[in-house]
Amino acid sequence: MVYGHSLKNLWYLSPDVTFLNHGSFGLTPKSVLEYSHALEKKIDSQPLDFFLEEYFPLINKAAAELASFIGAEQESLVFVENACTAANTVINYLSSVLAPQSEILYINHIYLAVNNALKHLGKHSNLVIKELPIAFPIESDEQIIELVRQAINSNTKALFLDHVSSATALIFPIEGIVKLCNENGIFSVIDGAHAPGMLDLNISDIKPDFYFGNAHKWLFAPKGCAFLYVAQKFRDEIHPLVISNFYENGYNAEFAWIGTRQPSSWLSIVEALKFYKTNGDRNIRDYNRNLCLRARNLICDELHIDKPSPDAMIGSIASLPFPYQCILDSNEVYHLRKYFRENFKIEIMFSYFDNKMYFRFSSNIYNEITDYERLVAAFTKYGESK
Ligand SMILES: Cc1ncc(COP(=O)(O)O)c(C=O)c1O
Repeated sequence: MVYGHSLKNLWYLSPDVTFLNHGSFGLTPKSVLEYSHALEKKIDSQPLDFFLEEYFPLINKAAAELASFIGAEQESLVFVENACTAANTVINYLSSVLAPQSEILYINHIYLAVNNALKHLGKHSNLVIKELPIAFPIESDEQIIELVRQAINSNTKALFLDHVSSATALIFPIEGIVKLCNENGIFSVIDGAHAPGMLDLNISDIKPDFYFGNAHKWLFAPKGCAFLYVAQKFRDEIHPLVISNFYENGYNAEFAWIGTRQPSSWLSIVEALKFYKTNGDRNIRDYNRNLCLRARNLICDELHIDKPSPDAMIGSIASLPFPYQCILDSNEVYHLRKYFRENFKIEIMFSYFDNKMYFRFSSNIYNEITDYERLVAAFTKYGESK
């Protein structure tokens, strides 16, 4: 299978854009969107038959296929709209079982929305929400595990962290951290929004308490397709945020029915997995990661940027410090993105973390190294214009 620009027409992507931000919202291939739309038409041809007879067997089949892909048993996995819904579901559960003054620890690299949900919990409960700051640049996995080890105490009852962080684009050593949590009776909550399709994922090996991920990012599913994994011992106690018809009918049934909604994005996971497997499966992950590392080397060399993390912590997104002076706020993030889009026809993400501006680029099977050469040229022009 030859990857690169010749594959771009498998998506509806504008041909004139160098697309280096697969990470924010993903991209759904034409074939998967067509499958999803066909399903919507079928549902409306006879909605009663569909929802009363066909829906549950189909959702179970979809869950089984996704579970097998991420190394989990079918019963452990339920579909949710997105990673944010999953995070709030787990937070809701924790708020109902943790004793007052219990501490929830989170690593400062977590996604803003999940951080906000924890902040909200802190304001409206008597739980203690504590940040564990981990500096970026970072040297190694061991450094992170050691910082977590030092930060936990007898009052720490839950830990939130990302498998692949958003602003800093780092793969966190979740295996070692989950092990620490399991040894210390701490709920481990892993936000794997970027992991399925980017990393080799085997949840049964990792043994977290809660793990959620998006299929609409790197697995090519339609937007609104995400999953929540819950360890067996908590499945009878956790409930969806929307309590509906199947309350207390078991974890899988409760989450499968949260009121009437369009189920096409969840059910299209079977077509997204087919696309992913037909187009290379592991080869996709390898191509994307190798290209991302090559791109990072190229950009760092050409723009004289020091790499802020070892190669081992990089998947198919990478964040580097923005090499020019700028204002540090969300308006600037917005303006920079727009500037690169409008002036150079390049889509990349900007973000700020710990008082520094970063830019994040992605690699996927429709990219080639020339895309990053264009990015370097754009940065150089931007620098000259300042
Ligand atoms: C680490 C992480 N968590 C959560 C999210 C939120 O995903 P969603 O918008 O699908 O809820 C993102 C989005 O990029 C993310 O990077």
